[in-house]
Amino acid sequence: MKTSRLRYLTAGLFLIGCAAAFWVQAAEQSAQSQTGEQVATERQEAMREIDQRMKSLDALIASGNRSESFDETVLEHAKVIDAIVQQIPGLFPEGTAVADSRAKPEIWEHRPEFEKAAGELHDKITSFVQAVETGDKAKITATYRELDISNSCASCHSAFRKKD
Ligand code: HEC
Repeated sequence: MKTSRLRYLTAGLFLIGCAAAFWVQAAEQSAQSQTGEQVATERQEAMREIDQRMKSLDALIASGNRSESFDETVLEHAKVIDAIVQQIPGLFPEGTAVADSRAKPEIWEHRPEFEKAAGELHDKITSFVQAVETGDKAKITATYRELDISNSCASCHSAFRKKD
């Protein structure tokens, strides 16, 4: 029982590694030879990915944490979100405020604040991952609610993303 659980977890972590590596590679490529449009499209995809995973996390937490694989699933979402969040500065190189982008010029005018906003989100997810790793479901739920992770998404958006 212990072994199979460990195997399951190891396989899960391997997949998280692959998903994270995908986003790291995507961000590195965007820093190289892509056009502003391509970079903007890529970061919008990255944002949609974290959006989907945040919704899944919300639903899992709201469901009352009954499933056997709760910890692993939550951990995977949190780690992939974090891997992407750490790429945020690299996904916003200068010169990429193209027509289809909602990135505000303030991103480049107030770069330290922008990076701080990404850093705050990273810190929150790190705290959440630590709670998940305890395996204590009550603690996981309480920490998730307390951290209010999506509030960090919203505060960056209100400062640095144009309205629709
Ligand atoms: C450091 C700032 C920052 C943080 C933190 C941040 N975002 Fe964003 N987000 C942006 C900016 C800027 C854009 C606009 C990008 C563009 O259009 O080029 C954006 C765009 C988006 C979009 C629209 C993508 C599209 O299809 O155009 C979604 C959805 C989104 N973010 C979700 C999230 C979620 C969920 C989180 C938190 C888990 C988050 N973001 C955290 C800055 C941030």
